[in-house]
Order: sequence, then C-alpha cells, then structure tokens
Amino acid sequence: MKQIKIAFFDTKEYDRNSFDKTNQSHSFKIKYFETKLTPDSALLTEGYDVVCAFVNDTISSEVIDILVEKGVKMIAMRCAGYNNVDLSYAFGKIHIVRVPAYSPYAVAEHALALIMALNRKTHKAYNRTRDNNFNINGLVGFDLHGKTAGIIGAGKIGRIMIDLLKGLGMKVLAYDSWKDEKYAADKGFEYADLDRIYKEADILSLHCPLTKESQYMVNKESIELMKDNVMIINTSRGHLINTGALIEGLKTGKVGYAGLDVYEEESEYFFEDFSTSMVMDDTLARLLTFNNVLVTSHQAFLTREALENISMTTMESIDSFFTNDKLENEICYQCTTERPCLKDKTGKCF
Ligand code: NAI
Repeated sequence: MKQIKIAFFDTKEYDRNSFDKTNQSHSFKIKYFETKLTPDSALLTEGYDVVCAFVNDTISSEVIDILVEKGVKMIAMRCAGYNNVDLSYAFGKIHIVRVPAYSPYAVAEHALALIMALNRKTHKAYNRTRDNNFNINGLVGFDLHGKTAGIIGAGKIGRIMIDLLKGLGMKVLAYDSWKDEKYAADKGFEYADLDRIYKEADILSLHCPLTKESQYMVNKESIELMKDNVMIINTSRGHLINTGALIEGLKTGKVGYAGLDVYEEESEYFFEDFSTSMVMDDTLARLLTFNNVLVTSHQAFLTREALENISMTTMESIDSFFTNDKLENEICYQCTTERPCLKDKTGKCF
C-alpha cells in the first residue's frame, strides 16, 4: 500500500512531539506547517491524502473546493469542536473526522482552575508576594460550598464539571437541549431552563457547542437576568458570549468575575506570542485591563493525556479509512443534526 501523506496545519511543538511519537506505530509521511489553513495555504496540499486541522483553521467552502481539487480525501480535525467547518458544503465531497473526546477531564479541570483562581484571587496574590507584598486586603473570596452553579451543556465535559462542583458541595442546575433525567437524579443535579439558571447561578459555566442557537447566548439581556456579581466561565467557544455585553457587565459590576479560555476573535491572537508587539484588538485589550478577568489562550485541553489521545485517535481514524475503508469518528452534516452523533464507529456517512 502506498504511504499515506498528511499535511498538518497550525502546528506547535507540542503537536509535533505527540504526533511524531504516535506515528512510530503508523509510518505516515507527515509535513507540519506552522501556518493556519486558509484559502492561500490550502494550495500547499497538492499530493497529500489527508489534511489535519485545528480549532482556528478555516475550513470554508473555498478551502474545501481547493482541497478536493488537490486530491485530499479526508480532513482530520485534531479537536472535538467543528464550528469552523462548513459541514453542509463538505457533505459528499470530502470526509471529515474529529476526536470526539480526548480528555473531558482536562477541560473541566481547567474551568475549575479558573473558578478557584478568580474566587480566591490567586493571580493577584502571586503578583503581590513576588513583590514582597504580603498584604491580604482585597483578596476576600467566598465559599463555593452551598453556592449554585449553572452548567450550560451537560455533555462529556459538562458532566465532569458537575461532578467536580458537586464534590465541592455546590448546588448544580444544568441546561441541555437533550436531558437525561435519570442521570441527573443519580448525580444529584437538576435540569432547569435558561432563565432560571441565569437568575439563580452564582457561577455560570459554558460547556455547549457553538451553534446557531447557542451563539451569543450570553448577551445584554441574559446578563441583565443574572445575579449581581455573577462569575462567568467560558471554556467552550468564544462566540457563545457577546464580548461587548460582557465588558459592559464588568464595568457596571453586574459581572463580578470572568474566566475565559476562548474569545470570539481569538484566531488572530491565541496560540501566538505578541509579547514584543502589540494587541491591536481593542476589545481583547479592554478585557485584559480588568483584574477580575482571567484570560487563558485556549489551553483547557492542554494536558499530556489529552495530547496523547488526540494523536492516537486521529491517526487511528486515518489508518482505519485507508486500510479498511472504514470511517471512525466521522462528522457530517446529516448525523450532526441528531444527538448523539450515531456515526461514531458505525461506518461511512456517504
Ligand atoms: P458533548 O457533545 O459531549 O456535549 C455538549 C452538550 O451540549 C451536549 O449534551 C448537547 O446536547 C449540548 N448542547 C448542544 N447544543 C446546546 C445548546 N444550544 N444549549 C445547551 N446545550 C446544548 O461535547 P463536549 O466534549 O462536552 O464539549 C463541549 C464543548 O467544549 C465543545 O463543543 C467545544 O466547543 C468545547 N471544547 C473546548 C476545549 C478547550 O480546550 N477549551 C477542548 C474541547 C472542547
């Protein structure tokens, strides 16, 4: 069998390390590009069988046409989310696979880390003690025990988050477009509608995918419904929050804390080093001025275990397609209209 050639886009050292290690048991021919996948860089894929892309790559109709024209058979997303893929356009033209779960623990634990740091102001204490300032004025937090958390999206990550927060003695309300009442009863949380969650939650944590329905679910109106001093955590996708409305909420004090691992215009900045240049995005720059806002640059997934699972699942999906003509972890326009995606491990969608 001919050696399968894979073009990776938007790669960093940690991607190369984990994929090179996993490739020792596959022997794919790999080319790592640091550039993101765009209509321009898609022209580099001549002669490749597979393109491996990540969260901030562009998989638009234009890119899909170029990849198909260059002979690429599959796009392997090395992530769970696929809001950057034009799935309806790709259907019938090119197969798309993803890594449905690589470490939901990594993401939920990072969301919890943001909550803990914001609440107990660890980021401020770190800076103070580094400067020999041992004053604790202004560092008052609150007990999580007994407070109410609102979890939006009780899927793989949301459910682990619920376990973690229940472990801390919090009351948990969850909103999901697909309910499992038995699971909720077993785990001791309650499903609630969005309005109730906005009104009752001390901490709101977003764990649903970005869709037409969920886009800008945190906006001026929903923030108005929230408790004063609410904490908002987003480790899901930036466009779930209207950042302008969030900034207004922070300025009035309605929003007491924000922990953001994602940002709606992150693709230009996240994963890159701008420490010797300037951030020209005024909204991001404004967010970074609040000392009750913690921004991390889409790193919630970044654990050793997750990287290993990402590379193993991605390479197994590619191997299985080219060796056995079987598609695992395919995402397509048809099967994502239902929940859960029943095409996982069940064969090709077209
Ligand atoms: P999942 O598919 O297991 O769970 C998502 C849940 O959201 C499902 O239960 C689904 O029914 C629900 N849902 C769908 N639309 C909804 C809506 N409009 N309102 C409320 N709930 C809705 O996905 P998983 O693995 O839990 O991941 C969740 C999201 O986390 C991903 O879509 C991705 O955007 C994000 N993510 C972020 C990472 C990071 O590094 N920051 C890494 C991995 C995922």
